[in-house]
Amino acid sequence: MIAFDASQKRPEFIKVRIRRQDGPGEKPYWELHQITYEPELNVISVLQRIASQATNSDGKKVAPVTWDCGCLEEVCGSCTMQINGRVRQSCSALVDRLLEDNEDELVLEPMSKFPVIRDLMVDRQRLFRALERVKAWVPVDSYYNLGPGERQLRDTQEQNYPLSQCMSCGCCVDACPQYKKIELKKEAGETDEAFEARKEAAYDESFVGPHAISQAMLFNNHPTGKALAGERLEALTGPGGIQACGNAQNCVAVCPKEIPLTTSIGRAGRAATMYKIKKFFDK
Ligand code: SF4
Ligand code: SF4
Ligand code: FES
Repeated sequence: MIAFDASQKRPEFIKVRIRRQDGPGEKPYWELHQITYEPELNVISVLQRIASQATNSDGKKVAPVTWDCGCLEEVCGSCTMQINGRVRQSCSALVDRLLEDNEDELVLEPMSKFPVIRDLMVDRQRLFRALERVKAWVPVDSYYNLGPGERQLRDTQEQNYPLSQCMSCGCCVDACPQYKKIELKKEAGETDEAFEARKEAAYDESFVGPHAISQAMLFNNHPTGKALAGERLEALTGPGGIQACGNAQNCVAVCPKEIPLTTSIGRAGRAATMYKIKKFFDK
């Protein structure tokens, strides 16, 4: 139990237990760190204090802990990790709040569904590959001025705006029981290109994930984006598509942007059924 300063009801020190891993495929291990308490820290600032100490809680010199971050304002999606057992953004995880739930220590682990590069940094390539699978973009057929785009109805804007806030953080897929971890090792003599192709093939067979389903619905509901609606539905009705969702609804519970993922999944399910029926009769 941490000693509390009675006047402020705050601890003198914060213990931070970190699940570390020295490289891809290496055995993970736990390491305890301790920093002096300061008010209004977030988890990234805790990691920065730990990096500047470069020692563990026993005062032993250790390699700096590695983590990912960018914007520090819950926009870029790069700082996702498991904090006290819950997947979330470390830049917006406030330590004072976390200590209210667990005053003994903070527990930091990498995301569970992606290969670890080192410590808390993971390879989220599969997340972005899924966006390629569903063509999560508005197509352009030229770069000259085509004039203003088609106007969107207010209802369409209201439906699309929440979905457009997705920052590809991966919280939803990390919490999804249907999204299984894929970690491949480069084989002896395999070229970088062959290894990349093998990884992409494995990713393309696996569950695409709620974020990609939601982005497919966003772009299918866009006046220009809907030009690729059929190709998106083809991807969502193929291997690892919408049928892989078990409707556990964990995804919507952890999305930091509160994106209505299960609504998107419901819309995608209906659109996929209509697409399949139409395809059958168009044969
Ligand atoms: S609703 Fe589907 S996508 Fe969301 S957590 Fe459940 S299985 Fe995964
Ligand atoms: S849907 Fe939410 S949880 Fe999933 S990647 Fe987008 S912002 Fe993150
Ligand atoms: S650093 Fe960008 S979301 Fe946390």
